Amino acid sequence: MRGLAGKTVIVTGGAQGIGRAVVDRVVHEGGNVVIADCHAEFGKSAAQEADEIAGRPAALFVHTDVSDEESVRSMTEKTVEHFGGLDQLVNCAAVFIMRGLEATVEEWRRIMDVNIMGQALCVKHAAPHMRARGAGSVVNIASISGHIAQPGYLTYNATKAAVANMTRCMAMDLAPDGIRVNAVNPGTVWNKNNERFHREQLGMDRAEADADPEIGGRHMLGRTADPEEIASAVAFLLSDEASYITGENLMVDAGYTAM
Ligand SMILES: NC(=O)c1ccc[n+]([C@@H]2O[C@H](COP(=O)([O-])OP(=O)(O)OC[C@H]3O[C@@H](n4cnc5c(N)ncnc54)[C@H](O)[C@@H]3O)[C@@H](O)[C@H]2O)c1
Repeated sequence: MRGLAGKTVIVTGGAQGIGRAVVDRVVHEGGNVVIADCHAEFGKSAAQEADEIAGRPAALFVHTDVSDEESVRSMTEKTVEHFGGLDQLVNCAAVFIMRGLEATVEEWRRIMDVNIMGQALCVKHAAPHMRARGAGSVVNIASISGHIAQPGYLTYNATKAAVANMTRCMAMDLAPDGIRVNAVNPGTVWNKNNERFHREQLGMDRAEADADPEIGGRHMLGRTADPEEIASAVAFLLSDEASYITGENLMVDAGYTAM
């Protein structure tokens, strides 16, 4: 894909799930990647495997808490020291505190700190380095959950709706610097954590979840997504193939929100 080779990309939440698939795709396309995640064990192994995919030292793990501004500042500085600059950012890290009106103040603060402020802090500290390059691209990971109501999901869905509109505001503020900002809104993604949830809580494997009218059946294509299918959309929006796209919320949901 045009405009990814040789680029340096920060992927928050890159140790697992969708972020991990984005890391692998970026290095496969010839980019360098910083995995900014709070899970040290998975982050280090993700970096090792990304180096193997690339066949060169392409990945750096930096232990990061995106809700802590000093941690984000230090992570962006380490990125620039290590790779000589920064071109692109993927805001993937999130916590899944699914609560309704019963949510405590502490639960509200935690999910807003990570899912909303965490994305804003990463853009705040990445943008000056992109501005120094004269161009940049940011992809925020939002969700179908930011556009619909789901039972008992008040806290999470509020944060994802915030990401959808922060994306438009950031795009407007950063356009004069040649920095594009877009969001990818995935449907249900079959990652390891979702696999465990469906097995332990619902007694379902993937085939059963895909066949269930309330899970796979909520998507027009009748199935959940592989993380790599989300990573493809992220790679497109990062790349020069999307050079005339900014402020966009791309639904990557097999038609879930079109029904
Ligand atoms: N899985 C889905 O079905 C789905 C659907 C729509 C949107 N999303 C969104 O996609 C993104 C990735 O989700 P996933 O399912 O791959 O999740 P995941 O749990 O597999 O990965 C999330 C990663 O974020 C990291 N993280 C959490 N808090 C952090 C913090 N404070 N600082 C740094 N890292 C932190 C975790 O360690 C983990 O590696 C999230 O933004 C999520 O809201 C997921």
